[in-house]
Amino acid sequence: MKADVRYEEISENLLRWYAANHRDLPWRRRRDPYAVWVAEIMLQQTRVETVIPYYERFLARFPTLQDLAAASLEEVLKAWEGLGYYARARHLHRAARILMEEHGGSFPQTLQEWRRLPGVGPYVAAAILSIAFGQDLPAIDGNAVRVLARLFAVQEDPRRPAGRRRLQALAERLLPPGRAGDFNQALMDLG
Ligand code: ADE
Repeated sequence: MKADVRYEEISENLLRWYAANHRDLPWRRRRDPYAVWVAEIMLQQTRVETVIPYYERFLARFPTLQDLAAASLEEVLKAWEGLGYYARARHLHRAARILMEEHGGSFPQTLQEWRRLPGVGPYVAAAILSIAFGQDLPAIDGNAVRVLARLFAVQEDPRRPAGRRRLQALAERLLPPGRAGDFNQALMDLG
C-alpha cells in the first residue's frame, strides 16, 4: 500500500458524490435483508433498468421471506419469467426454504453462513451484510473492479488471484467504517 495515497480523502469524496448523485432505486428504499438479497441476486447478471420492474413485481408477489418459502417453485419461476438465468430463481427459492427450516426464518449475519446458501457468492454475501446490516465489508462486483483498477492503476488481472487480492486489499483500506453500504453502492453507481 503506498504511503502517499490519501485513502480517507478518496472515500470521503466518493461518499459525498454518492449522497448528491445516487440513483433512486427501489431496493434502496427498503434496507431489510430480504429486499436487499432479492435485488442483489437479480442484479448479478442483469442490468439495473431491466431489473426494476421485475424486482417491484417480485416483491409485490412475495413481500417477505415467509411468502417466498411458502410459494411453489412454479410460482417463483413464473415471476422470474423473462429475466433469464433461471438457476437464480431456483436457488433463491431453495435458500428461502433453508432459511425457514434451518434458521428459524431469520437472516444470517456472517459471510460464512450466507455463503452456504444456494446462489450466494462472496460478492452477494458482502453486499447484503454491508447494505442491510451495516457490516464493514467491501463488496467487489464488476463495477467496483472497474473503478478501483483505474483509480489505482492496477496492472494485475482482476480475474486472477493476485489481482483479486490487490483489489480486495485496496477496497478494505478505502472502506469508511460504518458506511460500507453506501461506499459499496457508490462504487456500483460510479462503475
Ligand atoms: N448492482 C448490483 N447491486 C447493486 C445495487 N445495490 N445498486 C446498484 N447497482 C447494483
